[in-house]
Amino acid sequence: MMSILVLNGPNLNLLGIRQPEVYGHTTLADIESMCREHAATHGFDLDFKQSNHEGVLIDAIHAARGQHDGIILNAAAYTHTSIALMDALSSTQLPAIELHLSNVHAREPFRHVSYIARVAVGVISGFGAPGYLLALDAMRGHLERSE
Ligand code: DQA
Repeated sequence: MMSILVLNGPNLNLLGIRQPEVYGHTTLADIESMCREHAATHGFDLDFKQSNHEGVLIDAIHAARGQHDGIILNAAAYTHTSIALMDALSSTQLPAIELHLSNVHAREPFRHVSYIARVAVGVISGFGAPGYLLALDAMRGHLERSE
């Protein structure tokens, strides 16, 4: 069965209370439930993780090799800074989708830079919590086409 890892970076554990005018009122636990329901409906396996630590995210990307078929990564602020996360994704050679709740291109210039996009199949940004389901559908389609 197809297996997708959804990986969330720093401060996303505070969704729901963190700048709701930017990120909405949905908590990360709510988003995980939505993703799990989507996986059950469409018949694929899902792993859902969050860490505030760059090294833990890198370890999770390495561990995805052989366990998952694709990675959806909301690297949060590390998107804009982390060559190490970019290199980790390149090393696993798994397809990755970069995901953001907010439209990063409509925000501050430092959020227009992404190290992740360079190694991603594509980017989904600005659709809030439902963007996670868009990313899951995009990854399913990508994996089915590359079978
Ligand atoms: C974010 C956008 C990033 O710029 C920011 O640092 C985040 C969240 C988003 O989901 O919109 O923490 O990745």
